[in-house]
Amino acid sequence: MARLPVIVGNWKMNLTRSAAADLVQQLRTELDAVRDVEVGVCPVFTVIPLVAPLLAGSAIRFGAQNVAWADSGAFTGEVSGEMLRELGCSYAIVGHSERRQHFGETDERVNARAKAALRWDLTPIVCVGETLKQREADETMTVVTAQVQGCFAGWTAAEARRAIIAYEPVWAIGTGKVATPAQAQEVHAVIRALLTRLFDAGTAQSIRIQYGGSVKPDNVEELMAQPDIDGALVGGASLKAKDFVPLVKFK
Ligand code: PGA
Repeated sequence: MARLPVIVGNWKMNLTRSAAADLVQQLRTELDAVRDVEVGVCPVFTVIPLVAPLLAGSAIRFGAQNVAWADSGAFTGEVSGEMLRELGCSYAIVGHSERRQHFGETDERVNARAKAALRWDLTPIVCVGETLKQREADETMTVVTAQVQGCFAGWTAAEARRAIIAYEPVWAIGTGKVATPAQAQEVHAVIRALLTRLFDAGTAQSIRIQYGGSVKPDNVEELMAQPDIDGALVGGASLKAKDFVPLVKFK
């Protein structure tokens, strides 16, 4: 089954308003005509209302880096799916390793956050990935399997089809140390086989699995050539048009 590649920039806690506006305008000029790749950017919450009108009528989508599991109420510091939906967001990243590491995110919470995204018609980008210690202890497949099982526990196949999964080995994030295409493909294939067991073959074939971790213009093509790699979640190289544009136009 042909899956439309999806490349999303995760700006993390970077770019204030003027820098974000400059970048988005450059991306519009360069990427508006791209149709064979779905392109998105995820700015910080405060910049989303600025980016939204700048991307009106553009093929470039935008989203948030997190979403609350609840829809409203006493959740200081959180932002709900409804609030993101009203800004026109398409995506919500959930379970990024930085949230797992610094903010105590668990698979159970990630599951609930992703479900909240679906309630508001946002595509959850569900992040999983092992640490260096876990890889060295040969625990990669066990860890990633448990994360995917936990994040999708209780989901129907129809719900799962609306998600994107991002496999991001923690040791490759922001380190310049990219997984080899073979290393990434091996994990992606395990995730897809797991999705077949959890749901069904058709669902597993339709879910897009992004790779993330030091994706750059010079390594994106060989990663994307792998049969189970359907896109990229990009941190550092999404902050400058001179990096992100050639990365999206990898072919
Ligand atoms: P990086 O970040 O591209 O800077 O390694 C990827 C991510 O954290 O999504």
